[in-house]
Amino acid sequence: MRIVIPGGTGQVGTVLNRALSAAGHEVVVLTRRPGAPGEVYWDGRTPGPWADVIDGSDVVINLAGRSVNCRYTPANLRAMMDSRVLSARVVGEVIGAAARPPRVWLQMSTATVYAHRFDAPHDEATGVIGGAEPGVPGYWSHSVDIAKAWEREQEEAATGRTRKVALRSAMVMSPDRGGVFDVLSWLARVGLGGPVGGGAQYVSWIHDHDFVRAVEFLVDRDDLTGPVNLAAPEPLPQRAFMRDLREVWRMPVGLPATRWMAEVGAFALRSDTELLLKSRRVVPGRLLEAGFGFAYPRWPEAAGDLARRRREGRRGASSAPH
Ligand SMILES: NC(=O)c1ccc[n+]([C@@H]2O[C@H](COP(=O)([O-])OP(=O)(O)OC[C@H]3O[C@@H](n4cnc5c(N)ncnc54)[C@H](OP(=O)(O)O)[C@@H]3O)[C@@H](O)[C@H]2O)c1
Repeated sequence: MRIVIPGGTGQVGTVLNRALSAAGHEVVVLTRRPGAPGEVYWDGRTPGPWADVIDGSDVVINLAGRSVNCRYTPANLRAMMDSRVLSARVVGEVIGAAARPPRVWLQMSTATVYAHRFDAPHDEATGVIGGAEPGVPGYWSHSVDIAKAWEREQEEAATGRTRKVALRSAMVMSPDRGGVFDVLSWLARVGLGGPVGGGAQYVSWIHDHDFVRAVEFLVDRDDLTGPVNLAAPEPLPQRAFMRDLREVWRMPVGLPATRWMAEVGAFALRSDTELLLKSRRVVPGRLLEAGFGFAYPRWPEAAGDLARRRREGRRGASSAPH
């Protein structure tokens, strides 16, 4: 298949490109700074010659969006919103105008669209969309607003012949340098991988191989449309999540961090505490119902596999599924 990945130069794009290319597909990445083979220029907001790559393709997976790992200044929030909404809009326009449109358009979204919650997990049918939950900082609604606007662009796009799926993905854990697993592992290894703000907040995650397998599953299954949660079935409290991570790195100590320490740390790392403190308890209702089997449903085994690959410097090969 020809698979086009707008915004495919980042962490998730690297994971997908590696796996889909290895499976024999032709992968084309749309980027604002093409350089490598298989990369084509686009600006993420206006149609251009890149539309020819989409016309006649089989699958489009749009990942474009300014990183959310930043301070939530007004300028950054605007860039987070615009980069997602405008890129989804133009991808929809180009697919809608194509003579030979792709069979399916997978549009990245995020598990952050759901409310901060401890008591029960969110699946697609019963989950509560965030933005109005009590007891959380008011500005946390920004990321939910961005996710909703992002999904709306895809929903409203007039792409009659193309199936549309929104990927409500949890954090994708891969052993690549600079990815979220790498950063959390570094914290664990220097003794800072303890509970943050009490550590009761849930962490949703997905192992990189399961992320790729879920994408392949959604490409194949013509009956699935709309939002789909991409998260391992067993999210766990941050305290336990970091304890398991410390264990795989054999680090006995993990200093706890209070909320204000997290504020200072996030400021120093030019990030925002919402990423650490929001409880994301998200489960893959539709994937499980459709018969998808996770190779890494539990965090201890997933973390063990990722740490082993990180140590060995091997990115692709996982140990046998559990
Ligand atoms: N990583 C995760 O675990 C995770 C989980 C859930 C959802 N997501 C979402 O999935 C997407 C991909 O995640 P990622 O971790 O791979 O992100 P990333 O490493 O930050 O890469 C995102 C890509 O978006 C492109 N981009 C950035 N600003 C843009 C703009 N203004 N206009 C057009 N393109 C722009 C960049 O491509 P160029 O600079 O090459 O143009 C970049 O490669 C993001 O939207 C993210 O919010 C990620």
